[in-house]
Amino acid sequence: MAKKVAVLPGDGIGQEIVEGTIRILKQFEEVFGRSITFEYGLIGGHAIDEKNNPLPEETVRLCQESDAVLLGAVGGPKWDNNPSDLRPERGLLGIRKALGLFANLRPVQAIPALISSSTLKEDVVKDVDLLIVRELTGGLYFGEPSERRSVNGEEAVVDTLFYTRREIERILRKGFELARVRRKKVTSVDKANVLESSKVWREVANEVAQDYPDVTLEHLLVDNAAMQLIRRPDQFDVIVTENLFGDILSDEASMLTGSLGMLPSASLSEEGPGLFEPVHGSAPDIAGKNEANPMAMLLSAAMMLKYAFGWEREADMLEQAVFRTLESGVCTGDLAGVTNAEPASTETVLAEVERQLKEVAQLTK
Ligand code: NAD
Ligand code: IPM
Ligand code: MN
Repeated sequence: MAKKVAVLPGDGIGQEIVEGTIRILKQFEEVFGRSITFEYGLIGGHAIDEKNNPLPEETVRLCQESDAVLLGAVGGPKWDNNPSDLRPERGLLGIRKALGLFANLRPVQAIPALISSSTLKEDVVKDVDLLIVRELTGGLYFGEPSERRSVNGEEAVVDTLFYTRREIERILRKGFELARVRRKKVTSVDKANVLESSKVWREVANEVAQDYPDVTLEHLLVDNAAMQLIRRPDQFDVIVTENLFGDILSDEASMLTGSLGMLPSASLSEEGPGLFEPVHGSAPDIAGKNEANPMAMLLSAAMMLKYAFGWEREADMLEQAVFRTLESGVCTGDLAGVTNAEPASTETVLAEVERQLKEVAQLTK
C-alpha cells in the first residue's frame, strides 16, 4: 500500500530543498516499485502570511492522518519582529508537541569523501559515528511561565525549565535502547553541578541504567561535553540530553561532518507519525539563490524511509546516492569552501543524486 507523507516545505531554503527531495522520492515508484503519495501543508512564515497562524489546524490534521511528515525549515527576517505567538518557530514547536515527538535523533557520521577537507584534523574526525538523542517536547522550550514582567518597577523576564520524571525517563530509555543496537555506550549530558532539573536527570539516568547492564553509562557536564565534541568526538556513541543542550550541541557537532547542510534528523513519538527534517534552519542569507545544500534534507528523507516505513534497503540506496555524489566532487558552496571544489548549484547536486540513485539501483539488481 502507498505510504502517505505530509510535506511541509516552510520558509527560505526549506522550499528549494523539499521540492528537490520530493522529485527524487517520486522516482521510488519507477526505480523500486515503492509508492508514496504526497500532500502539502502550510507551516511557519508562509502559514502566518496566508492564515495568520504559524500552525493552522488543517496542517495538524494532515500530519496526524499521514504515515510521516517531511519538513524543510521555518523562519526568516520577515517575521523576526512578530509577537511570540505569530513567529514561524511557534509552528515548528507546535507540531512537535501536537504529534508528541519527544525523541529527536540527530546522527553525526564522518563522511569519507569529506574527511580530508574537514576544518578539524583528519585524525580527529575520521572515526566519528555518534547519535545525539535530544529531548524535544519539554525543558526550557515549553516550561511555563515564559514571560516578561515587572518586578519592583523594573523590567524582568522568566523562562522555565520544566520536566516530569516520566519525560526524563522515556528519553533516557530511548537512548539506552538505541545504544543497545550500536556500540553500547550512553553519555548523559547535563548541568548537574548547578541545575535542579539536571540533578533529577542524573538520578533517573542511573536508575534506567540498571535495566541495561549491557550498556555503559557515563555522565558529562554540558560545558565539558561541548569541548570533548571537538577534542575527541570518536569517544561518543549515543549522547542523550535535554532540549536546549541538544539544540546547541547538534549544530556544533554538524561541523564534524563538514557542514550544517549535511545533518539530518528524525523526531519520533511513542506511537503515530514521525517528523523528518534537517537540523539546519531556513538560511535566509542564501534562500532563493539555488545555493542550498540539499543533502541534510535528502538524508532526512532516507531516515523517513527507514524509521517510518521500514524500507531499509531503499534508505540505504538513497544514502549511497548522496555519498557517491560527494565522491564525484559535486557539492554546494558550504562544502566547496572546505574541499576547494568548484561550488555547484542546488539543482546540479540534485540532478547528480538522481543519476547516482539510478546507478545504485542498477548495481544492486
Ligand atoms: P540556519 O541553520 O538557517 O543557518 C546558519 C548558517 O548555515 C547560515 O550561514 C546558512 O547559510 C548556513 N546553512 C544552513 N543550512 C544550509 C544548507 N542546507 N546549505 C548551505 N548552507 C546552509 O540558522 P540561522 O541563520 O541561525 O537561522 C535562520 C532562521 O532559521 C531563523 O529564523 C531560525 O529560527 C530558523 N531555524 C529554523 C530551523 C528549523 O526549521 N528546523 C532550525 C534552525 C533555525
Ligand atoms: C532546530 C531549531 C529549532 C529548535 C528552532 C527553529 C525552534 O533550531 O530544530 O534545531 O530550537 O529546536
Ligand atoms: Mn537548532
